[in-house]
Formats: sequence, structure tokens, C-alpha cells
Amino acid sequence: MSTESEPFKIEVAQRVKRLPPYLFGRINTMLYNKRRNGDDVIDLGMGNPSDPPQDLVIEKLSEAARDPGNHGYSKSNGIANLRREVAAKYMKKYGVRLDPDQEVITCLGSKEGFSHMCLAMMGPGDSAIVPAPFFPIHVYSVALASGNVIALEVADSEKFLSDIAYTCETLYPRPKLLILNYPHNPSSVVVEQSFFDEVVKLAKKYGFMVISDFAYADVAFDGYKPPSFLASPGAAEVGVEFTTMSKGYNMAGWRVGFCAGNAEMISALATIKGYYDYGMFQAIQIAAILALRHTDAAVEEQSQIYQSRRNALCESLARLGWTVDPPKAGMFVWQQVPEPWRSRMSTMDFAMMLLEKGNVAVSPGSGFGPAGEGFLRMSLIENEARLRQAVRQIKSCLREAEADFTAEPAAVS
Ligand SMILES: Cc1ncc(COP(=O)(O)O)c(C=O)c1O
Repeated sequence: MSTESEPFKIEVAQRVKRLPPYLFGRINTMLYNKRRNGDDVIDLGMGNPSDPPQDLVIEKLSEAARDPGNHGYSKSNGIANLRREVAAKYMKKYGVRLDPDQEVITCLGSKEGFSHMCLAMMGPGDSAIVPAPFFPIHVYSVALASGNVIALEVADSEKFLSDIAYTCETLYPRPKLLILNYPHNPSSVVVEQSFFDEVVKLAKKYGFMVISDFAYADVAFDGYKPPSFLASPGAAEVGVEFTTMSKGYNMAGWRVGFCAGNAEMISALATIKGYYDYGMFQAIQIAAILALRHTDAAVEEQSQIYQSRRNALCESLARLGWTVDPPKAGMFVWQQVPEPWRSRMSTMDFAMMLLEKGNVAVSPGSGFGPAGEGFLRMSLIENEARLRQAVRQIKSCLREAEADFTAEPAAVS
């Protein structure tokens, strides 16, 4: 006689199961609970811009949204005028000539384009070199495409280049893809054009493709100008570059990103996107054209705002006696946990302590892989007063924790 049937079992795909654990979960849950209880937590965790886009861009969006012609499906590779505007910007800013029809595509935020590009380029048995510590999507995209990740430390650019060459000499099959991200998230490492010149030479020598994630192209300080990978001779023969309007233009929620460079890679991405999506809301694309064409000054001003916040945060941390390395670009300070805390506890526990007792949320470096252990990533999205206040709260949290620590009775054996 049949008894009660077995409960139905949902069996998710291996590609989901093999994803690395999401390490910011503990922090995010505590942050959420604290805020729900009414605590004023200063959030230096996420890199989510808090300032609005320019008024004229918002006005263009609402005007375009009122046009009945803009509400149907758009083109998955983006409207021609937006792709032309991206090409024009590359020419103006980096002296790079691009064919807007073959060498530029729009994406639903650069993250979407990046992950689908990995899907277009990678398969089982393929491997990609990823900078470590890693921005999670750089690893997840390769894993979701069934590829393997080779994580190489990014801190010293010369060593990174020689490690790439060594990996190509010694690994069989050779890596298929190199992922670059300068200015780097989370570590804020930056490079000069000559670095990309060397990358192109290595790519040609060893036959790997390159994806440059240039998310922080528009956020740089003290006169530093982040170089574009595509401005290196021969770059478009070996790879592509992703840019975004999320950071410099304060349009993170709009999901506007671009991929430019190698026509075959762009065409493969267009094929995947052609199956998966119907393109970005056309009103957003129209407003994005205006932003690219008319808001250079505002992008520059936004960089200055981040620079002042960087100064406020770094000066306050230095006054605490921490050794600080102020970033030249990007939206983060990559801060080594000071001794004796670094030896006493994991970076995750240190970050949890700052949140629990100090009401300051930071990203523990270990959330960006083992190479991030011992570091915190502190974002520059809060204003200067809040950043200074955050450091004061860290100071009193550590003073109390130190007192607790020294008062703890020694374990009896
Ligand atoms: C290095 C890096 N790449 C890509 C992204 C995603 O940008 P988008 O909003 O265009 O998807 C981010 C966002 O934090 C980032 O830090």
C-alpha cells in the first residue's frame, strides 16, 4: 500500500551550487536588524552612490517617458544614438576611435554585460585570471559560465604582470581570459597606460582575451586620470572594456552600462543579449545620451566631492594612529586593520564588532576573497561630517573593546 509520498525536492543546477558563499550576509543581516530597531548606522559598506543625477537628465527622462513611442521593446544592443555618444566620448576622453555599430553595445548596467560576456566567452574547462582580492561578480560570472578562476594578487602591478606570464607558461590549457579592473575595487590600485600596453603584448603572446572593467573611469583624485585599456595599441584586437553611468553620473539604479572594443566579442555578447533581453527602457537611453553629452562638469564635480570625502576619512583615520594609504581613484578606502586587532581576530569579526558596538558598517576584506583578509573596505558615499563621525564611533568602540579585552580573565588550564 502506498504511504505518504516523499516531499517534492527542488534540485538546483550545479552552476548555482558551485558559487562561492556570499560573505557579506552576516553583516547585511545585522545592519538590517539594527536599522529596523532604529539605530543610526553609518554605512560605509556598499558602493551605492547617494547623490542624485543632474536635473536636466531627470527632466529628459520624464519628457521621454511621456512620449508614447518610447514604451515598446527597445533594441537589445542599444539605440544607435546612444552607441554613437559612447564612441564620441571615447574619442574625446581617450583618443580611441570606435565603430558605434560593431564595437559598442549598451548593457543593463555593466554587471549584466560583464556576466553575459563571460557566458559568451567561457565554458567548461576554460579558466580566467581574476585580480585578487576580487570584486565578487568577477568570480561569480566565470563560475556561472562553468569556468575556473585563477586568482592573482593585484597589489603590485609589476608582480601581477609577471604572475600572468608565469601562469600562461605553466598552466595547460592556458587561461582563456584575463579580467582587469583599474581603478580596482576593492583595493583602489591604479595603473598607467604602460601597464595596459604590456597586457596587450602578453595577450597576443599567450593568446588570452581581455575584459577590462572600467567602472571607476570617472572617479579620480589629485589630477590622476585613469587610463582606458582601449587606448593601448592593439587592445581592440584582444579585448573589450566595460564602462558604466552608475558611479560618476550617479545613475546606479538606472542600469546603464556599455561594452566597447573587439567586434567579435561584442557580437557574441549581442547574440546572448538578443536571446535574454529586449534592451533598456528607451526613455533611459535618451536621457543617458544627454548626460554623456552635457554633464562632464558635473561628473568632475562629483569626483571632487569624493576627493573631499576621501580626505576627511583618511585624515580622521590617520589621527586614530592608523596607517592610511589614500586612494587616487574610486569610491573606497582600502584600509589595513591596525594591530593588535589584526592578530586578535578575523577581519569579519572586527567588522562585526564595529557594526555591533560602534554602529559603523564596513565591508570586511575577506568578503573579497582570502587576499582581502586583514583589510576593510570603507566607501565614500556618506558625507564628510558622517565620515568623521564614523571614525569617532570606531575610536570609542575600540577603546571599550580594548578595556573588555584586557579585563578578560586568563583561561585556567
Ligand atoms: C568594479 C565594479 N564593476 C562593476 C560594477 C557594477 O556596475 P553597474 O552598476 O554598471 O552594473 C561595480 C559596482 O559596484 C564595480 O564596483
